[in-house]
Amino acid sequence: MKNKKIQKIIHLKDKRKIACLTSYTTPISRILDRYCDIILVGDSVGTVHYGMKSTREVTLDMIIRHSKSVKLGATKTLVVADMPYKTYQNKFQAFKNASLLLRQTKCDAIKLEGGKKISKIVNYLVKKKIPVMGHIGYLPQHSKNKFSISGKTERAENELLNDAVALENAGVFSVVLECVMPGLARKITKRLKVPTIGIGSSKNCDGQILVIDDMIGLSGFYPKFVKKYSNVKKIIEMSVKKYCVEVRKSKFPSTRNSYK
Ligand code: KIV
Repeated sequence: MKNKKIQKIIHLKDKRKIACLTSYTTPISRILDRYCDIILVGDSVGTVHYGMKSTREVTLDMIIRHSKSVKLGATKTLVVADMPYKTYQNKFQAFKNASLLLRQTKCDAIKLEGGKKISKIVNYLVKKKIPVMGHIGYLPQHSKNKFSISGKTERAENELLNDAVALENAGVFSVVLECVMPGLARKITKRLKVPTIGIGSSKNCDGQILVIDDMIGLSGFYPKFVKKYSNVKKIIEMSVKKYCVEVRKSKFPSTRNSYK
């Protein structure tokens, strides 16, 4: 029996699109909790917030700390935590780390990168009552290049479709499709009973996810698939500039900002 939040996500397939974003902190989660269907504590935290070159440097401890912070702000929304690189190399290690992550953070589910190759590990976790979200296509933990689109050849298409089916058979409750060709994203979405969540994979998916810092214009990382909904970087810059001018001119703090 799957938990209610997860069942709700599965039932959204073919009813309405699923809106997901990443979050790494309490204040952002408080906002997302009012609007999103899924919040992901992505290992993108490493590249986005710690200036790491790759998500491979992210540790389980970092994900635990950020997941705790996210859960403080998210009371309603399904929160999924990423399992970092090399924390799920075999089913026993995966179970030990996933249990620790969920026990310490109270997140609802975990996400693993990979298809058929990790399906036995996924199945073991699901049997042990750990809800798992899959992630196929471009895999940041396993790719050296910036971005590459998956499913361009017939062979690659078949492989990715098989990966998706293997994950569904292993028991995932949804699958992230990262940078998958639109036609293949449609095929996978039609084939699976569980929802597909796209990032750079066209609208032919059951839902969408973006990295929050990218879509609010804070990260400075804007591949084609990112839509910048706001320019928070500009707002921060203007505020910082004004503050510095006012401090230097002794305009801040004024009497309004001082105790009597
Ligand atoms: O780590 C992350 O933010 C992700 C999303 C991009 C899907 O895995």
